[in-house]
Amino acid sequence: MYWLRRPKAAGLQFRAGTLEDLEPIHALEVELFGQEVWSYEHLSQALSDSGQEFRLAVDGTQLVGYLWLDWIAGERGTVEVDGLVVAPAYRRRKIAERLLHWAVERAVQAGWPRLQLKVRADNLPALKLYAKFGFHKVEDLPGVYAGKDGLLLRLEQLLTKAPEFARKRSELEGWQGQG
Ligand SMILES: CC(C)(COP(=O)(O)OP(=O)(O)OC[C@H]1O[C@@H](n2cnc3c(N)ncnc32)[C@H](O)[C@@H]1OP(=O)(O)O)[C@@H](O)C(=O)NCCC(=O)NCCS
Repeated sequence: MYWLRRPKAAGLQFRAGTLEDLEPIHALEVELFGQEVWSYEHLSQALSDSGQEFRLAVDGTQLVGYLWLDWIAGERGTVEVDGLVVAPAYRRRKIAERLLHWAVERAVQAGWPRLQLKVRADNLPALKLYAKFGFHKVEDLPGVYAGKDGLLLRLEQLLTKAPEFARKRSELEGWQGQG
């Protein structure tokens, strides 16, 4: 049975990512995306760039997920989520949800009202996650993922919604599920 093979989380923690985390981040990208991976050089640049931030989920010393926030890709006031991944064995433990709540919190702290991201139009788990946060489609992006269609999504009015997100975030902190 699948759940018997799931690793026990030694102690899931969240922390900032730095250039020292380049190897495991790249390895996770390769494991998940194969040929469509972000290049080592691109990730290295992003991790060295003060306009970009990485938030990692780690289990002991093992990287199990990360979110990549880019303050320069979008227009002013719009911070972009350039990457969000969770290792297959750690999915459905609300790791992505907690990483995304961190991104919302960062945008609110900075006084930026919008988050945006691109997603493959057939990525149902990710679309469900983003719908749960209230993202909506602003543009179709035909063929952008090696010929597959994508969508540009936005989550707006973050400053108005900040109290509601803070309440949901604190509920998640008390979440008793695995991890
Ligand atoms: C999408 C992804 C990041 C979700 O990570 P996760 O940690 O498993 O997600 P969470 O446990 O935080 O789930 C939060 C919500 O997302 C949705 N969701 C996540 N995985 C889902 C799945 N397989 N099927 C349906 N809904 C799903 C649900 O709404 C869920 O809320 P719920 O637990 O109340 O049902 C993960 O599947 C992944 O890394 N996929 C490959 C990379 C990718 O597609 N990244 C997004 C690029 S835009």
